Amino acid sequence: MKTKTFESLLERIRAREAQVGVIGLGYVGLPLAVELANAGFAVTGFDVDSAKADEINGGRSYIPDVSDEAVAACVTSGRLTATTDMTLLGAMDAIDICVPTPLRKTKDPDLSYVVLAVEAVAATLRGGQLVILESTTYPGTTDEVVQPMLEETGLAADVDFFLAFSPERVDPGNPTFNTHNVPKVVGGVGPASTELASMLYGAAIETIVPVSSPQAAEMVKLLENTFRMVNIGLVNEIALMCDRLGLDVWEVVKAAATKPFGFMPFYPGPGLGGHCIPIDPFYLSWKAKQTGFDPRFIELAGQINGGMPHFVVDKITDALNRHEKSVNGSTILILGLAYKRDIDDMRESPSLDVMALLHQRGAKVRYADPYVPTLAARAWHGGFDMQTEPLTAAAIADADCVAILTEHRTVDYDMVLRSARLIVDTRNAIAGKHPHVFKLGAPAPVMTLETPEVREKVVA
Ligand SMILES: NC(=O)c1ccc[n+]([C@@H]2O[C@H](COP(=O)([O-])OP(=O)(O)OC[C@H]3O[C@@H](n4cnc5c(N)ncnc54)[C@H](O)[C@@H]3O)[C@@H](O)[C@H]2O)c1
Repeated sequence: MKTKTFESLLERIRAREAQVGVIGLGYVGLPLAVELANAGFAVTGFDVDSAKADEINGGRSYIPDVSDEAVAACVTSGRLTATTDMTLLGAMDAIDICVPTPLRKTKDPDLSYVVLAVEAVAATLRGGQLVILESTTYPGTTDEVVQPMLEETGLAADVDFFLAFSPERVDPGNPTFNTHNVPKVVGGVGPASTELASMLYGAAIETIVPVSSPQAAEMVKLLENTFRMVNIGLVNEIALMCDRLGLDVWEVVKAAATKPFGFMPFYPGPGLGGHCIPIDPFYLSWKAKQTGFDPRFIELAGQINGGMPHFVVDKITDALNRHEKSVNGSTILILGLAYKRDIDDMRESPSLDVMALLHQRGAKVRYADPYVPTLAARAWHGGFDMQTEPLTAAAIADADCVAILTEHRTVDYDMVLRSARLIVDTRNAIAGKHPHVFKLGAPAPVMTLETPEVREKVVA
């Protein structure tokens, strides 16, 4: 039944008169706020971090995928403002929640940020508001956790206020796909909620994919991320096998990818990173275990991917050994700290694990990453502050071994190849075979020490 409340909000959205609030102005929230502002809505960003609010109000972006110009244009036109004052949520017609959903140390979901955000929404909830959860979470969060908290106000979901889940699928650093052109899946707690959320996003995003419930929308996101995690686990295991069998996994994947159907290439690497792939599948795993179901693929892929930093350290140890050096006492330059190329995000980055493991074994670790100028002691297990080395031939040549862990496209790999004494390449960033380059999932270069120019370099 289409109520007056529904019709009135629908009309406000249609006319771009709806005030939209976005809670959590990070990698997901800020691009979304900018898209909604560009669509013509007056958007207010809410964050507990006043520095972020100040940056936005000053017309500056701190997210690489969003330009300063884009933020400045929205702020100047009056369509975007940011605040830490949660009491202003009551003035919003629609509210998007984009706060973190990490794991606890036990790998159980940590919904504390979502709960705090929903408490803030509940404190000023009024009839006619639309609330959409975007944070990745387990199936059931919207209707089992969020809905009861909001209904404690005495208002009924899908009647007095509207509630939906819509997963964010943004891929930071992707030059082709962004918040605007990635289809948006929407599942409301009832038909009115689905329709309103679809109408809101439809104003800003190219394609909307409605599904039957918030649980289905929550599961869509977890299927996507579990699919990636499991396939990366599979290709990492294939890389480990290739390593044993003396085959080059990069050659194998490249050739397999020529199959025009039934195959999709995934690439091995030093382990999983980021706020999504290493974490989200464990939300699903936790929920499945509540029903007595044992989700084996997730656990197995987690083990294989979690073991990759150790394998990389073994590879570095082996490479140094062949050059008559030990990890203990060697200077090892980690090339790339971010968890994937062309971004500055270090959350869960396997580079941090590799670096800490090498440090524990007595290596003098350094890093170079054009996107990560400094590394705070608390951000890794080595426990001391670091700053990036300059990406110069001298800095590269100074290291006993350069370990390429993130293949940023701005790095001059020809220079790295020419300058380094020894390279362990976990991303296939260096093309071809070279006597001083060891690749993950590929045979060691043949009799490295018998190559005169290398012997000259490494024994010096
Ligand atoms: N980063 C990605 O690539 C990506 C992609 C898809 C989905 N997601 C999901 O989106 C959600 C947000 O991720 P993110 O990467 O944007 O996180 P983020 O850490 O970059 O941003 C979260 C923001 O929320 C703020 N915040 C925390 N608690 C708050 C509260 N109670 N009230 C107001 N603000 C609060 C933080 O200060 C921060 O600015 C997570 O559930 C994540 O899994 C992330």
